Order: sequence, then C-alpha cells, then structure tokens
Amino acid sequence: MLFLLPLVCHFLSFSTLLITLNKATSSDVEAAGVAEFLREEDTQSTSGIGSSPQPNRRQSGPLKQKQTVAPLPHTQTSSHEVVFARPLNIAASMTRMSRREIIQNEWNRLARDAGAARIEFINDVDEEEVPPGIGVLFPYLERKYLFDIGIAEPSPMAGCECDGVAGCSKASKCGCCTERKHAYTDQGLFAFNTDEEITECNTYCSCPPKCINRVAQFPRPLPVQIFKTEERGWGARIPVNLVRGRVVGLYTGLLIRREDADKLSGRRASYCFDLDVNEAPDEDPPENAYSVDAYGCGNWTRFINHSCVPNLKIISVVYDTMPQDNMPYIALVATKTIPAYTELTFDYNPSHQIEFEAKRYKEKSKSIMKQSKTRTRCLCGAAQCRKWLSVVA
Ligand SMILES: C[S@@+](CC[C@H](N)C(=O)[O-])C[C@H]1O[C@@H](n2cnc3c(N)ncnc32)[C@H](O)[C@@H]1O
Ligand SMILES: [Zn+2]
Ligand SMILES: [Zn+2]
Ligand SMILES: [Zn+2]
Ligand SMILES: [Zn+2]
Repeated sequence: MLFLLPLVCHFLSFSTLLITLNKATSSDVEAAGVAEFLREEDTQSTSGIGSSPQPNRRQSGPLKQKQTVAPLPHTQTSSHEVVFARPLNIAASMTRMSRREIIQNEWNRLARDAGAARIEFINDVDEEEVPPGIGVLFPYLERKYLFDIGIAEPSPMAGCECDGVAGCSKASKCGCCTERKHAYTDQGLFAFNTDEEITECNTYCSCPPKCINRVAQFPRPLPVQIFKTEERGWGARIPVNLVRGRVVGLYTGLLIRREDADKLSGRRASYCFDLDVNEAPDEDPPENAYSVDAYGCGNWTRFINHSCVPNLKIISVVYDTMPQDNMPYIALVATKTIPAYTELTFDYNPSHQIEFEAKRYKEKSKSIMKQSKTRTRCLCGAAQCRKWLSVVA
C-alpha cells in the first residue's frame, strides 16, 4: 500500500493547484475589468472637454488606482512559472483584500448582474474605507425597489400597439407617450419638454427595444465613483463627460408607505425620497403614497449630495407599473454638460428655489428628501446657496 502514498500526495497537490488556478482565473477577469475601465477613463477624460479642470478630483486618486493593476506574472513568463507564481500571488491578494475591495466587488457583481457598468469607492481625504453603514449585508439594488412588508408589487400595465419594427416614432399615435410627445430625443436624451411623469414603453408594448420611448429602463452604461468629499461625507461622480439630458441612474431603495416615512428621523430620514409627483402640493397625500428609503438598501445614487445650484434634476418615470400606483422610478438627468469627475448634485428641495427667488423662503417647508429635525448647514458652496438644507416641518 505504501507505494500508493506518493501517488496520492501528488494527486492532492495537483487538485489543490487546480482549485487555486480556478481562483486565479476569476481574479484575472476582475483585474482585466479594472484595467479595461482605467483605459476607457484615460481615453475619455483626455479627449474633448474631459481635459478641462476636475474640481473634485485629486491627482493622486486615479494614479493610485492605476498602480494596482500591474501586469500579472504569467504574462511575461513561461507556463512553468504560471503554475507556481499565480497561487502565491492570489494567496497574497486574498489576505490583503480590504473592506473596500470586498464591498466594491460585491456591488460590482450585483451591478453586472443588472447589466450596469462598474462602481468604485475612492477616498483621498481620510482613512475611511467605505461610507458609514455600508457593509456586506447592505443589499445593492441597481434598478429595482425592495417592497416593504405589506406592500404588494403592483401588476404591470398594458402596452401600446405601435409598429413592431419602426416603434413609437409617431408620438401622437402612441398610447404610451406622455402628453402625446416624445420626452426623449433620438439620441436617448431627456428633451426637457415636460414636467409630467413619463410613461415609457414596457414589456407588453409591440415596439422594439430601440423604440425612442425607452431610456430610463435600460441598465446604466456609465461607470460611477463614490468618493469622499472634504465636508459633505461621501458623494458621487462619473469619470466620463456627460451631455445635457443624459439619464445617469435611478434612485432605488426600500419602498415604504408615506405614513411610515413621515415617522423617520435623524440620519435615516436624510436618505428618504418622497414619490410625490402625482400629489397636489397643498393637499394631504393620497392613501397609496410612498417614499423610497435608501438608508438600509439602495444604489450609488444615495450618495448624491444636495446643491442649491445642481447639475442633475429628477424626472419621474413609469414602465412596469401604472401611473396611478404612485410607484414611479426617480431618474436623475444631467441638466448641463458635466465634465468628467465633477461631483453630481441635485436639489433636495426644488420648491425652495422658487420661494427663495420670490423672497418667501422659510427654510421649513416640504422637501422631496426628508431631513433630520435639526438644521443642517448647506455646504454646497454655490454663490446662490440658500444656506440650509430643509428641515422636516
Ligand atoms: C442622501 S445623503 C448624501 C450622501 C452622504 N453625503 C453620505 O455620505 O452618505 C444626505 C446627507 O448628506 C449630507 N449632505 C448632502 N448634501 C449636503 C450639503 N449640500 N451640505 C451639507 N451636507 C450635505 C447631509 O448630511 C445629508 O443629510
Ligand atoms: Zn415604444
Ligand atoms: Zn407606442
Ligand atoms: Zn408603448
Ligand atoms: Zn447650498
């Protein structure tokens, strides 16, 4: 029997090697993905207006990232070296995997499953690895809501009967097109021609996926960076230039009843977004009014900070629910050309701007994003800053 021992040992070490090599393969893919993204970033940010100043970007950030994607050993060595060099490399990288990398990998896995582009966490300000409250148990939701207990997922709406090849090019004939006009241009950009909720075509429509009336429903094609700001916690930016009208993402989270949202306070309240597009401003909300609570689950958009002079605006879009269900998606749209790496912002209290201009601004009135009961100084830095983030009345 003894003569079998060397053979068994040999077999065991071979299988261990195979397992380790498998790990190496998936790690390869990840590293290649990062490298690919960095290459794209380079090209895009040095072309056209991408070469303009990047106010929120420290030079050290992206360069530091780049150093982490050194070529893997086997690329320049013999196949013999691959066998031994790779497992050592992987073992080292596994033990060195930071909290940031673990969460970033998990978010990227879920974003990729939803068809979306990469997400990076970057901190050039201090030692915090990931934003507070973000751990391995935080469910990343690229494009969908989670529904709170007791809220049933609504049934889908009917589709239009436009031409199955040409699509819904004639807005006046399409049952989906809001106000019988196209909310999007041929390039898939928001046309800024309506303040109404947009009804996009859906799975029951007879038109093809390239129909002009489908934009926000598609997965995010742009990579995003969640980065630490100097004074406003973490923020979000996109490392490529954006044109006016580009839809950058959907605000997701737990869909909760408004009455429950109104009871929220403190930090949690500041991630809660009222879906109130169908509500009359001076009336009580209807019984089926909802809010999106992105405190315990959500996506990268929960890091978008407020500015009194923002570069994004929100639009309400439905495509898998009926407008009267009051469960639209909140899509974020660029209101101007946004150079790569500029911090993305939207106005948490757009109605305040109107009051501010009319000198009727009270600091204590309805806002779409709830805020804690203590006042927060606005640090957006805009010349026309309104000085305070609103407080819940
Ligand atoms: C939806 S969160 C935005 C992400 C947040 N910065 C973070 O690190 O998680 C909203 C909170 O961010 C901070 N914030 C956002 N915009 C701000 C601003 N213009 N000035 C000061 N604080 C801001 C406030 O603490 C606010 O309650
Ligand atoms: Zn259509
Ligand atoms: Zn149609
Ligand atoms: Zn349709
Ligand atoms: Zn401000």
